[in-house]
Parts: sequence; C-alpha cells; structure tokens
Amino acid sequence: TADILKKLPLAGVKAMVTAGPTYEAIDPVRFIGNHSSGKMGFAIADELASLGADVTLISGPSAQVSKQRSVKRIDVTSAADMLEACQQNYPDTSICVMSAAVADYTPVDVATQKIKKQDGDGLIIETKKTTDILKYLGDHKHDGQLLIGFALETNNEEQNATDKLKKKNLDFIVLNSLGDAGAGFKTYTNKITIIDRDLQKTTFDLKSKEDVAKDICLKITTLLKK
Ligand code: CTP
Ligand code: CA
Repeated sequence: TADILKKLPLAGVKAMVTAGPTYEAIDPVRFIGNHSSGKMGFAIADELASLGADVTLISGPSAQVSKQRSVKRIDVTSAADMLEACQQNYPDTSICVMSAAVADYTPVDVATQKIKKQDGDGLIIETKKTTDILKYLGDHKHDGQLLIGFALETNNEEQNATDKLKKKNLDFIVLNSLGDAGAGFKTYTNKITIIDRDLQKTTFDLKSKEDVAKDICLKITTLLKK
C-alpha cells in the first residue's frame, strides 16, 4: 500500500481544516451559536484525505463524522478554543482551509450560575469581538503555505469576498451564495464562486457539498503544482 499512497496527488502533504459552528458560553446552560452543520468542512477534510493528505480537522460542535479514517479530529467549543488549536497546528501545515462559522462576538463575562429571569422586559448581554482566526493565519503565513477562506454574504457578494481575500492574505476565497434556495447552512448542497489572488473568478453550479469539496480540492492541487 505504501507505493499506492505515494502516487496520490497530496501524499505526504499536511493539511488543516476547520468546520462547524462555535459556541460562545453565556452561562452554564446557554450559548451563542449558529446553524452551521459542519458538512462542508468535513467533506473537504475527507476529500483532502482521499487525495493522500495528512489531515487534521478542527471542529466546533457538530454531529458529522469523517468518512476517511485517517482524518485526525480535534473537537473544540468556542472561537477562543478554535484559535488555540489552529495556532498549534498551523506552522507545519501546507494547506489550511477555514470553513468553520466562527462567532464574531463572544460574551464579555460568562456567568458562573444560570442567569435567572429578571424584572423588566429585556436582557442585555455585553459582547466583545473574537480574534479573526483566518486573519491571524494570513498574517503568519509562510512561503509554500496555501490559505483558503470562506465568505458568507447576502449582498454585494463578490466585492465583499474580494475584500476578505485581500484583508486576510488568502490564496483563494470560496464565496457561498446564500441567496439561492438549496445553498447554505442546513442544506446538503452549495453554490460557490472561487476568487483567487489573481482575482480570477470561477462560478460553479449548485451541487452536493461532496462535489463542492472536489472542486475546492482541485483548485488546491492546481495551485500546489505551481
Ligand atoms: N473567520 C475566522 N475567525 C473569525 C471570524 C471569521 O477565522 N473570528 C473566518 C471564517 O472561517 C471564514 C472567513 O473568516 O473562512 C470569513 O468569515 P465571514 O463570517 O464570512 O467574514 P467576517 O470576516 O467574519 O466578516 P462579516 O461576518 O462581517 O461578513
Ligand atoms: Ca463573521
């Protein structure tokens, strides 16, 4: 089998993928989260592994399971946990795909006891910005590393995605079009546009997340050959 593995396009290449949502604790029983299922990230991790890569998958809370047994999974909960796991694994990876839906804000204080209902109608939870993990990785990228991010937009999609590509020093960005029925968080399908650092733009049809993962990984193997 060793000889067969060597012939795969990503044999011996280290990859790191993030997936799923993050949960930001409010108190011992509540959190701020989002609807990300983790499907897209798990599909990318599986595809990279099937191409021979040595894959570490850093996942927020998700019911997904890897199809490829070689994928090494690290479970995290919050954006801060995910940052730490990424910082540890990033330096010696050649391919990094950030498909997690990381919370942008996290509560300033986590109550140690369950917050009781108060008099009055409202409750205000004070939050602070999380670290932008992808931007951190872009700022620390070294030669030979490929960094790929996602963008979820509802308006001015391509311009916003291009701005993120530049700001976060990415090799390419995968724009997820939520506008289309059948694409996005809770679905089995996605419709993407890939924009690379030469501002080359490729739009794909609506397809299964497994097939979207194949398109993304083909772009990765093409760029690695350059
Ligand atoms: N991301 C990250 N860390 C964060 C927030 C986002 O690593 N704290 C990453 C996501 O994994 C994704 C990319 O940044 O690959 C873009 O995420 P997105 O939410 O579309 O963009 P933001 O930069 O957070 O901007 P906004 O939510 O305001 O559109
Ligand atoms: Ca965001």
